[in-house]
Amino acid sequence: MNERVKKAADVIRERCGDAEIGLILGSGLADSVMLEDAKTIAYQDIPDFPLSTATGHKSEWVTGKLNGKKVCMMRGRFHFYEGWRTEDIVLPVRVMKLLGVKTLIVTNAAGGVNLSYTPGDLMLITDHINYSGVNPLIGPNDDDFGTRFPDMSTAYTPALRPVVRECAKELGIDLKEGVYMWFSGPSYETPAEIRMARVLGADAVGMSTVPEVIAARHAGMDIIGITCITNMAAGILDQPLTHKEVMETGEKVRGNFSALIGSVVGKL
Ligand code: HPA
Repeated sequence: MNERVKKAADVIRERCGDAEIGLILGSGLADSVMLEDAKTIAYQDIPDFPLSTATGHKSEWVTGKLNGKKVCMMRGRFHFYEGWRTEDIVLPVRVMKLLGVKTLIVTNAAGGVNLSYTPGDLMLITDHINYSGVNPLIGPNDDDFGTRFPDMSTAYTPALRPVVRECAKELGIDLKEGVYMWFSGPSYETPAEIRMARVLGADAVGMSTVPEVIAARHAGMDIIGITCITNMAAGILDQPLTHKEVMETGEKVRGNFSALIGSVVGKL
């Protein structure tokens, strides 16, 4: 067993306990979900754990109850553009596996590529395109987690998508569905890259999520991916892209986003 993952999991378990559902909160969404009976540990108190440096990301692990389910939640994730190695980026997912997590809900902020989208839309991820050129499973395979060549045909668990659709409908949320494409960042894409992304089948582009999903599928977890379309991608509107816009849209959808997450968790 990977000693680094085990040590982190042991410290988190002792301070915060186990969980059945894992939740990774994306940019601008870190404060959108509150847990009951929350127990928190700062990333800096977890041995050999990375620290999030991206603005809009905190650095806390929280375990508690949400709609009756035991959830562990990352307020702040790690990105490739921060300089983390992919094994750092997916460390928390492997820790979740050791803590007993069966279902991972992964969320992010992304630029809308699909022209029918509007900033503020929530999109259920149906599939992804890894456009970064890296993969967190490169290197010796850790057989304790999964097989060398994991299948990605159903990376975003098809059986769980109706649950999310139903919750969105009950809440009156017009939930979009689409393909998320991972660019490394940190520069936003060019208009030409966005036209390419659309031709290749992307509905949204972002700088996260894909490595965590690959590691989670490798480890046999079920996955739900929810994107907040915080802006239209480069070149679609006649305006520059800014991190401020990403954060502000995240704030605006917080109500819908947290209601959807709470409702989905309750039904898992
Ligand atoms: N591109 C990449 N990542 C993003 C975007 C975008 O337009 N918006 C939020 N995250």
